[in-house]
Amino acid sequence: MDGNGRWAKMRGLSRTAGHTKGVETLRTIAKKCYDIGVKNLIVYAFSTENWNRPKLEVDHLMKLLSKHIVNFAEELGDRKVRIKTIGTRDGLSPQLIAAIDKAEQATKNNPMTLYIALNYGGRREIVDAVKKMSHDGALNNLDKIDQLTEDDFAHYLYASEIPNVDLIIRTSGEERISNFLLWQSAYSEYVFTDTLWPDFDETCLINAFEEYTTRNIRKGGV
Ligand code: FPP
Repeated sequence: MDGNGRWAKMRGLSRTAGHTKGVETLRTIAKKCYDIGVKNLIVYAFSTENWNRPKLEVDHLMKLLSKHIVNFAEELGDRKVRIKTIGTRDGLSPQLIAAIDKAEQATKNNPMTLYIALNYGGRREIVDAVKKMSHDGALNNLDKIDQLTEDDFAHYLYASEIPNVDLIIRTSGEERISNFLLWQSAYSEYVFTDTLWPDFDETCLINAFEEYTTRNIRKGGV
């Protein structure tokens, strides 16, 4: 959800105002995705590197997340959207953790999932998976290690049920992966747009889907 800061700056507003507007965009896009039958929507809300931003901005983002994760659960829960976060909880406040638990619990049986990548890093996810495997005894002896498959490994990621990601949309003209879904994006199509996240509307979403459908997806075949 890139471009909140620039969107705000262009209007003489604080960066935090850009993030607040970004939440509104997410609400619109999540509803649209539900209405057109998307089963899984994953948004990158806060990376493990975002702690390096000014404290005022980090504090604002944490407040926004605490408030809106619960709001989303109430509002989008009526639309049958399940809220699920992926990431590490290290460093999150008890209030935010409580909000996450509440939202996840209240929406756990809903059919569409809005995954919120929060305190998330793709490399960290892979290292955390290896740690979990070791604790589980899945790497206890050489036989187990030799027989390990990709599916076995994927089982230890933050949300093992996330399928191969079809499409990744990056807004604001940035054209990097930025440590997002390193494992799950192995076969993803990327759509890059100059539109800043707060300006990303339903038409932009449909345009990205249309671009996706024109791609020739071979997954290594011919
Ligand atoms: C990147 O834009 C955006 C973020 C780091 C934060 C995005 C988070 C939200 C919109 C809050 C989401 C809330 C919920 C409840 C999921 P940027 O700040 O890097 O913009 P810039 O590139 O223009 O500086």
